[in-house]
Amino acid sequence: MNLAGKKIVLGLTGGIACYKAAEFTRALIKAGATVQVVMTEAARHFITPVTMQALSGHTVYTDQWDSRIANNMAHIDLSRGADAIIIAPCSADFMRKLVHGAADDLLSTLCLARPHDVALLVAPAMNVEMWDKPATQRNVAQLKSDGITLLGPASGDQACGETGLGRMLEPEQLLEALTGFFQPKVLSGKRVLITAGPTFEPIDPVRGITNLSSGKMGYALARAAQAAGAHVTLISGPTALAVPLGVTCIPVTTARNMHEAVMSHIGEQSVFIAVAAVADWRVAEVSTQKIKKQATSSPSLQFETNPDILASVAALPSPPFCVGFAAESDDLLVQGAAKRERKNIPLLVGNIGHQTFGKDDNEIVLFDAQGHQALPRASKDSLAVTLIAEIARRL
Ligand code: C5P
Repeated sequence: MNLAGKKIVLGLTGGIACYKAAEFTRALIKAGATVQVVMTEAARHFITPVTMQALSGHTVYTDQWDSRIANNMAHIDLSRGADAIIIAPCSADFMRKLVHGAADDLLSTLCLARPHDVALLVAPAMNVEMWDKPATQRNVAQLKSDGITLLGPASGDQACGETGLGRMLEPEQLLEALTGFFQPKVLSGKRVLITAGPTFEPIDPVRGITNLSSGKMGYALARAAQAAGAHVTLISGPTALAVPLGVTCIPVTTARNMHEAVMSHIGEQSVFIAVAAVADWRVAEVSTQKIKKQATSSPSLQFETNPDILASVAALPSPPFCVGFAAESDDLLVQGAAKRERKNIPLLVGNIGHQTFGKDDNEIVLFDAQGHQALPRASKDSLAVTLIAEIARRL
């Protein structure tokens, strides 16, 4: 995630989720942002300004009468030059204040006094009953129509012991959402279908054949497409990764499951990106019982060929814009170009299998009808942003 050069004002309001704001501050700084923290009086009951100052590296302001700013106008000075103000956690009461244009403490006055080009994002955090109340929901609707971006809340166990909607998003989800917020919306209104991860072909109830794909590149592309404004569906083989915020994920196991899921969703898609490392073969006869070890012989397996999902999509009468991946072990330039033509797709991304599987970074070559272009080694997240921009340009 890259927020280099971004100036973020982080507002904390009263809620137990303030403890997550500490981790979020660290994540923002690691991503290259400058963080100016402003806290309400209620937030100070949950976490101290000293903690937030130590983590952000800047003076924390809590009081609108604080005289440390020379002109005594913290509510003006702190938002000028900011790229965004993010309130995390945002209490039900602070949402009410934003709806009504309240200016009765430093943070609310700062929000009201922000210039029109400073984005305001809020990450609500409250008890499930507080979130569900019509009054809160009216405030949510009003905030959205006022152009304020809501991040979450998530559903799950709450600190109060109850369960449901109202949990603040986790720090890494907030970072992902904020990074996405700054991306140009080059795929706005488009639908993008992505396959990711390995497939798993069973041999018997406890064994199977899979590969070393981690799903990282496919998930990074799902995040980047979502951040670019697309409606993203991710059809994923078994991975250990969290589903990106705002992305619909359909988990599958075998190549045939994946093929079926892709073909039933392909209708309305503008773009299909086949990143999954799909097993080429499946075991012809899957044993319903665990195959027992024999002292003198070992089992032999017969294989059948799996459907080629990408080729099936590319062969549709009016296919979406298709992007394929090729993980080669050698001779990438020749193999990549040949594979793009064989699969009959406009764009193919080539990489060297053992240099990408499970890694956080990669080196890729783009193949199209004009030839090829090598991109320098970079993180999968930043390659995904580049690829999405490239796809948008070609659509
Ligand atoms: O032919 P090969 O497996 O190397 O092609 C890789 C590309 O084809 C990837 O984009 C992969 O997701 C896709 N593929 C597929 N269905 C298969 C095999 C590969 O969609 N059965």
